[in-house]
Amino acid sequence: MSTYPKLLSPIDLGLDLKLANRVVMAPMTRGRATDKLKANDVMAEYYAQRASAGLIITEGTHISVLGRGWFQAPDIFTEEDAKAWKLVADRVHSHDGKIFCQLWHTGRASHSSFREGVPGYEGDMKLSVAPSAIKRGSHSGKQGFTKLPGQVDIETPRALTTEEVDALPEEYRNAAQQAKDAGFDGVEIHSANGYLLDEFLQSCSNKRTDKYGGSMENRFRLLDDVIRAVLTVFEPHQVGVRFSPNGVFNGMGSDDYRESFLYYAQRVAEYKLGYLHIMIGLGFGFHNKGEPMTMAEFRKVYPGTLMANVGYDAKSAEEEIASGNTDMVSFGRPFISNPDFVERLASGAKLNDPAPQSVYYSSVENAMAADGYTDFPTMS
Ligand SMILES: Cc1cc2nc3c(=O)[nH]c(=O)nc-3n(C[C@H](O)[C@H](O)[C@H](O)COP(=O)(O)O)c2cc1C
Repeated sequence: MSTYPKLLSPIDLGLDLKLANRVVMAPMTRGRATDKLKANDVMAEYYAQRASAGLIITEGTHISVLGRGWFQAPDIFTEEDAKAWKLVADRVHSHDGKIFCQLWHTGRASHSSFREGVPGYEGDMKLSVAPSAIKRGSHSGKQGFTKLPGQVDIETPRALTTEEVDALPEEYRNAAQQAKDAGFDGVEIHSANGYLLDEFLQSCSNKRTDKYGGSMENRFRLLDDVIRAVLTVFEPHQVGVRFSPNGVFNGMGSDDYRESFLYYAQRVAEYKLGYLHIMIGLGFGFHNKGEPMTMAEFRKVYPGTLMANVGYDAKSAEEEIASGNTDMVSFGRPFISNPDFVERLASGAKLNDPAPQSVYYSSVENAMAADGYTDFPTMS
C-alpha cells in the first residue's frame, strides 16, 4: 500500500470529470507565451510532462487587454488564443490528463506598459484598473515582469466606472467560451493574490460607494456575476474559484478578512462548483491581521469539494485530507522541478532539488526558453 493512500486516491468532480488522484498542479505563471501572447508547443510539452497530476490548473491567463499584467503570460480571449491553447489541451488529454484554464484579470497589479501602442488604449486608458484608485503595496514601491527592462514604479490605477464593472462578467464569459473551444475540461476563476477580483472582495482595496462596494454582499457582487456568466458556458462541476484569505501578495490583507472570506465561501457554496481552492498556508506571505485562517474553518461553512494549497508536502497533504478538512491539495513549486511528481510519490522515490527562482519566469532575452522549464529529469 502506498504511503499516501488518500492523496493518491481518485476523486469525482462530477459527471465526466473523474480525477485519477487528488494531487493538483497549482496555477503557475511561467512567462513562456509567444510574442503575441499565444500558447505554443513548448508550453504543450511542459503541461503534457505533468499530466499525471489528478488535475492541472494552467498559469494565469489574461481575459482581456486590460487584464494583461505579466511579461509573456498568455491570453485567452480570441479565437486565435483558443486555437493555440488547443495544442496544450490536446497534448494533456493524449496523456490522459485533465486541465483547467485559470482566468486572470490582473487589475491594479498591471502596468500601463502592457497597453503601450495598443490601439484604443491611449492616455489614461493605458492605466491598470481597480475597484478604487489605490496603489497596491510592495516592499520597494517597484514592480518587475513588465515589458520594460528592470523594475518600474508602481502606478496608481484608474477606478473602474460602474458601467465598466457591469461589463466585466461578459469578458469572463467570452474567455470561458474560448477555453471551452480550446478543449479545456473547465476553468478556475482567479480571485486571489491581489488581482482584480480579490481587489473587489477585500475592504483594503475596495472603497467604492456604488453597488460593488461597501458591504460584503456588494463586494461579492462582481465575483457572483462572473461565476454566473461562466456558468452559461461550463457546468458547475467544471468551474473552480481560488481565494487567498491569508495572503499579503500584491499588498493585500484586510481587517475583516475572516468574516468576509467565510461569507464568500458560503456564497460560492450555493453554486455547487467543482471546487473551492484556498491558499491557506503562509509560505507565500501572511498579512498578520490576526490569526491565520485554516481549512477547518472553511470546511465548517463549505460542504463541497475543497482544495488546499501553499507549502504542502505529500505527508502534510495526506494528513490534511485524512483530517477531513480538504478533499484535494494543489502543489506549485514541487511540479516545477518534478514533472513526474505523482509517480515519485507513488513509488516513494526522492524528489529533484527545487528549481532556483531564476528559472520561474522567462525574460525578454529567453522568452519561450525550454531551459528550466521542460528539461527537468523524470525518474526514468
Ligand atoms: C513561479 C510561480 C508562478 C505562480 N503563478 C501563479 C498564477 O499564475 N496564478 C495563481 O493563482 N498562483 C500562482 N502562483 C502561486 C501558486 O499557485 C501556489 O499558490 C504557490 O506556489 C504555493 O504553492 P507551493 O507551496 O506548493 O509552491 C505562482 C507561484 C509560483 C512559484
